[in-house]
Amino acid sequence: QMTATASAAAPVKEAPYFVEKVLWVKHWTDRLFSFAITRPASFRFRSGEFVMIGLPPREELGEKKPILRAYSIGSPSFAEELEFFSIKVPDGPLTSRLQLIQEGDEILLGKKPTGTLVLDAVRPGKRLFLFGTGTGLAPWLSVARDPDAYSRFERVIVAHGVREVKELAYRDLFTQEIFDDPLVGDEARAQLTYYPTVTREAFERQGRFTDLITSGKLFQDLGIEGDRFDPENDRAMLCGSMAMIKDTAALLEAQGLKEGSNAEPGDFVIERAFVG
Ligand code: A2P
Repeated sequence: QMTATASAAAPVKEAPYFVEKVLWVKHWTDRLFSFAITRPASFRFRSGEFVMIGLPPREELGEKKPILRAYSIGSPSFAEELEFFSIKVPDGPLTSRLQLIQEGDEILLGKKPTGTLVLDAVRPGKRLFLFGTGTGLAPWLSVARDPDAYSRFERVIVAHGVREVKELAYRDLFTQEIFDDPLVGDEARAQLTYYPTVTREAFERQGRFTDLITSGKLFQDLGIEGDRFDPENDRAMLCGSMAMIKDTAALLEAQGLKEGSNAEPGDFVIERAFVG
């Protein structure tokens, strides 16, 4: 008696996206910006996941379908708003328009956040290295603001690699604001290290992650004994260009760390930074 109803119960197809509102926009450089949107009450995600983001079609221009791209959510899982960190590509199908958004504009938000850059996909350990190049910093904005990161690891290292100093977006967050955060401020002060590096101009630290790992300078800079990763204690997440991920993952593997996934947690996890 309970069988026949299930398939007949969906006369109208559920909308694939939430329609949300822009809360604020912050432009870092002519190539980088951040924005936040309202969060639907039913939207659940794990810190570090990504979701599809887009703009409604402009019907006056004959557009029929929205343009959507995957974006890492920069807010922690419990946040009231959803923050995103984006590049601006002048002729990019989405970002050429997205960079023009203003407070109050409508944004489409996918209903199925997912991803591997989550604490559940790495095995327990002592140190968590979060390596991000460019907008690959985005998932660490989420993970490093989640108290779980500090309860699972003794030390959390947010490493941001960029070409130019001005691309070090969120420097104020990681050098100051996070320490005043009511939820993770105390933990961050005791356990978080921000590790920015610049490759194409003078800065207090220079060089690619790969070179900093190979030379052992990363460990020396962080006051870690030894000159390589320790598979017993070190865990890592990588986000950035394909080339960075491939080369850094190869180094991690050569030092004995094994890649993990949601299905099978490991010593490190990877995800390409999406737009760009
Ligand atoms: P570099 O300036 O030496 O290319 P991009 O904007 O190209 O994604 O680069 C962001 C940062 O990532 C830059 O500092 C860049 O260094 C660095 N990078 C690019 N490719 C690699 C790689 N294969 N391994 C490590 N770092 C990389």
